[in-house]
Amino acid sequence: MPDFVGAVDQGTTSTRFMIFDHGGNEIARHQLEHEQILPRAGWVEHDPVEIWERTRSVVQTALNRANLSASDLAALGITNQRETAVVWNRRTGRPYHNAIVWQDTRTDRIASALDRDGRGDVIRRKAGLPPATYFSGGKIQWILENVDGVRRAAEDGEAIFGNTDTWLLWNLTGGTDGGVHVTDPTNASRTMLMDLETLEWDDELLSFFGIPRAMLPKILPSSHPGLYGTTRPDGPFGGEVGISGDLGDQQAATVGQVCFSPGEAKNTYGTGNFLLLNTGHEPVRSKNGLLTTVCYRFGDERPVYALEGSIAVTGSAVQWLRDQLGVISGAAQSEALARQVPDNGGIYFVPAFSGLFAPYWRSDARGAIVGLSRYNTNAHLARATLEAICYQSRDVVEAMRQDSGVTLDVLRVDGGVTANDLCMQIQADVLGVPVSKPVVAETTALGAAYAAGLAVGFWKSTEELKQNWNEDRRWEPRWSDEQRAEGYAGWKKAVNRTLDWVD
Ligand code: G3P
Repeated sequence: MPDFVGAVDQGTTSTRFMIFDHGGNEIARHQLEHEQILPRAGWVEHDPVEIWERTRSVVQTALNRANLSASDLAALGITNQRETAVVWNRRTGRPYHNAIVWQDTRTDRIASALDRDGRGDVIRRKAGLPPATYFSGGKIQWILENVDGVRRAAEDGEAIFGNTDTWLLWNLTGGTDGGVHVTDPTNASRTMLMDLETLEWDDELLSFFGIPRAMLPKILPSSHPGLYGTTRPDGPFGGEVGISGDLGDQQAATVGQVCFSPGEAKNTYGTGNFLLLNTGHEPVRSKNGLLTTVCYRFGDERPVYALEGSIAVTGSAVQWLRDQLGVISGAAQSEALARQVPDNGGIYFVPAFSGLFAPYWRSDARGAIVGLSRYNTNAHLARATLEAICYQSRDVVEAMRQDSGVTLDVLRVDGGVTANDLCMQIQADVLGVPVSKPVVAETTALGAAYAAGLAVGFWKSTEELKQNWNEDRRWEPRWSDEQRAEGYAGWKKAVNRTLDWVD
């Protein structure tokens, strides 16, 4: 058995390839950004061809850096930004349109119509999701309705859909020359098209969006001993590697954080925040604005479900301070600036740029900075931005407690923002719960590698994976209960100010 496992992590802003050893240690990586195409307010697109080119480059560079080749890899896992929709021609391999990204709100009319005639409740019951612009179904419908020739090609089985996992799997295994058209239940559970109980595409759900079944990939387990396919030798790996893991990136991070038991949760701090709580073999229906989603399905074992709180804007609010307002020159500076003040000086920033996701699901919300007085400075704004990341996570933790009765005794964290020590301290303070970060913080790629490696016997069991998890840092809460309650009450008041903004 070769000594390493590879993982491609195709994210919202970049694509990376990482190589891990048996201990879950990083051996090599390379990462490249791709363009964020913003044709109009609320629209966000990616070029799928650019994403495939970036994938090729990062794989080749990381393999070269580590002086490794395809034969050194026991398996390959794929993980990806979820919901982002690509439709392409299976004969030419050409996309019909740019990928419509999960943050894109052009389908708001499609989404709101679903709740006017009862279809929304069917989607909630069968797919575990509230109708929203976030998920793939409406994005596919938009492409079918707005791009010439796609509907007919879809009905003929020529135009096919995939999230970026499916797009990469298709290209890695052969593209127009025999590529596979597959996905896994974690990705499929983000489309509004899959029945959560059967893990199959559902005809009634497909009819709500007018999507022909022939467009959709086959749903295979997230860890698949039978392999989805092998990389083609003339591709970036330069040889054949079995691809045996496929997970949406937030589910992959949950696996990378070894949250294999019901009640275990992780929070990933990226462009947005995604808090997932393992709820075991039964899907738990949320009454408090969380999503019910597939956490993973390993081989022919029963699927494991999760409750998820998805927050659209967290790390990207820090980027907004840098790119749009110019108050900081880099993400790291947000910490230094925020440290200049002891508190938020009375201001709250609600970064509802794409409306508000969990637990509110209000596409009519828009961002607001409230409580301003002449006294306030950029430092208060930086502090309020970090607090917004943490308060949005507190909203989700509250909803999880109400839905599942689970009170967290520790929150496992990962993702870029966890490098911000002040932000993690504020997170422990506003939650009143310790926050813990593992040594290997690249849990998303690691989770995809784990799924791939488990499938081929590189790792024998989830128990073995748990041995690889080690704590790097822990932040203990410091605020008094009174301070915590007062701060959170201010946040809730600020959120109310952002609602009903768009008609
Ligand atoms: O649901 C969207 C999520 O999968 C995106 O994650 O890390 O690519 O921003 P990320």
